[in-house]
Amino acid sequence: MIKHLAIIMDGNGRWAQSRGLSRSEGHRAGAERIGKVVDAAMALGIKYLTVYAFSTENWKRPIEEVRYLMNLIPEFCTAKLPDMMKNGVRLRTIGRTDDLPAASRKVLLDTIEKTKDNDKFTLNIALSYGGRAEIVDAVNKILADGVKPGKIKEADFAKYLYAPDIPDPELMVRTSGEMRLSNFLLWELSYSELYVTETHWPDFDENELKKAIDSYMGRDRRFGGVKTK
Ligand code: IPE
Ligand code: IPE
Ligand code: MG
Repeated sequence: MIKHLAIIMDGNGRWAQSRGLSRSEGHRAGAERIGKVVDAAMALGIKYLTVYAFSTENWKRPIEEVRYLMNLIPEFCTAKLPDMMKNGVRLRTIGRTDDLPAASRKVLLDTIEKTKDNDKFTLNIALSYGGRAEIVDAVNKILADGVKPGKIKEADFAKYLYAPDIPDPELMVRTSGEMRLSNFLLWELSYSELYVTETHWPDFDENELKKAIDSYMGRDRRFGGVKTK
């Protein structure tokens, strides 16, 4: 089974529009999906789920939409804490979370602290996350460490990324049909299998997850080599 699944949770706006609802209602429905997909992923034996919730580029959305999303963060943490404690789910984040509003950040950090010893599953939320920002942040940490030119190998570099202890995702799913990475996990996805579904994120369910995994199971992962039969 896959250890680490990554998801670009796209299409909240289109889901809402197709129902005559506001984009905010789409984001609310999208946030509610996360818990269901965590349960489904756990039941399948997956250990890590990274979900793209807010990109470094999403700051350019209208202020009201950004504010709504920022308020959803503490709401999600507070609502889901009992389930996370009961089910052994540890919350983590990747991204420039210092850029989040102080009130959202506080609840997030409290939830991360309270769930830090849970060891059944890791829910890793990408917030104010950009793949290029992650690489640039790593370079700056390396320079600050005074590492000499020529001393960094790929494995050393990876230690400076946001979540060095989490293995690279075997599979990356994007909902809502777009065939692009949108600056998600540029380093970590280098050899991941990709799966895109037309389903909008608020409609992504256990059945959709199983379809993605079935597709993954049928792939021939060669990693640049040749199959010896
Ligand atoms: C994904 O849904 C959620 C975020 C990027 C925060 P969108 O808001 O991008 O939905 P669409 O792509 O406009 O349908
Ligand atoms: C990617 O979705 C970011 C998240 C899902 C958080 P976007 O809707 O922001 O990406 P683009 O604009 O289609 O590239
Ligand atoms: Mg989108």
